[in-house]
Amino acid sequence: MDVNGISLVVGAGSGIGLETALLFAERGAKAVVFADQAFGAASEASEKSKSIATATDYQTMAIAVDVRDRASVKSMVEEVMKQFGRLDYAVNSAGTGRKTEADVTSLDESEYDLLHDINAKGILHCLQEEIAVMKNQEPAYVEGRNGRRSIGPGSIINVTSLSSSVCSPNSIAYTASKFAAKSIIKCAAIENRRSGLRINEVCPGYTDTPMLRLGMKRQPEMIDLIKKAMPLGRAATPEEIANVIHFLASPGASFVNGQSIIADSGVSASIV
Ligand SMILES: NC(=O)c1ccc[n+]([C@@H]2O[C@H](COP(=O)([O-])OP(=O)(O)OC[C@H]3O[C@@H](n4cnc5c(N)ncnc54)[C@H](O)[C@@H]3O)[C@@H](O)[C@H]2O)c1
Repeated sequence: MDVNGISLVVGAGSGIGLETALLFAERGAKAVVFADQAFGAASEASEKSKSIATATDYQTMAIAVDVRDRASVKSMVEEVMKQFGRLDYAVNSAGTGRKTEADVTSLDESEYDLLHDINAKGILHCLQEEIAVMKNQEPAYVEGRNGRRSIGPGSIINVTSLSSSVCSPNSIAYTASKFAAKSIIKCAAIENRRSGLRINEVCPGYTDTPMLRLGMKRQPEMIDLIKKAMPLGRAATPEEIANVIHFLASPGASFVNGQSIIADSGVSASIV
């Protein structure tokens, strides 16, 4: 997978975003920008990436961003453009899980608003600022066995969840935020498809990250549920999800746009 351009990963301080950003460094990206609200974690990861990067003259930086705030997202993208003059791959992986279990009648509205602001509006803000700079970039080209082809001006991959297609009880705030994110992503993809900019969605099932571990601490019964319900008897590793994201960033996915790829080991195959 040839991902040798400039990459920005939002939510790169932990979990799926962290693994995706490190994989960009390992697979030859010229530059990897680690953006996160947790600036310390993003800086540490950026530093770590230097030891695994394979591109000559690899460059990296960390940026503090709060995806709830459009001005903060705008200044993140401006910083990337100032430093590198181009953005080939943007991965939007910042997100948060639910803190409480509540049904429709007992739902805590402040939690609903918080999850919507991060998981849905956060994706909207990132798309707004990324698309504005990426859609007018010169397209990149690759040489295939059948000749040279354009791979477009860039690729944006948004991490949502299996919960952007499937509902579960007592999880309205999270599920609603993910369904909203899916619709934002699809609309943005359709609006921009003639530019060649590709905008896709990756929908992970349970993935072994700090977010899942926190959930398991709150609800220890999840450990057993994952063992029993998941076809492979386990959650995904962050690396397994990062690889799906990388496929969508790569030239191999140059004809894939506006799509949702569910990576859940097949648990939802009979439902979705
Ligand atoms: N872990 C799972 O089981 C799982 C399953 C399905 C979907 N997801 C989704 O994958 C995405 C990544 O989750 P993860 O498991 O890697 O979680 P994680 O908690 O390990 O990482 C999320 C990162 O997002 C950052 N973040 C949170 N709010 C932010 C904000 N307002 N601005 C900027 N950064 C912010 C955090 O600081 C953190 O570094 C999320 O959207 C999550 O909903 C996770």
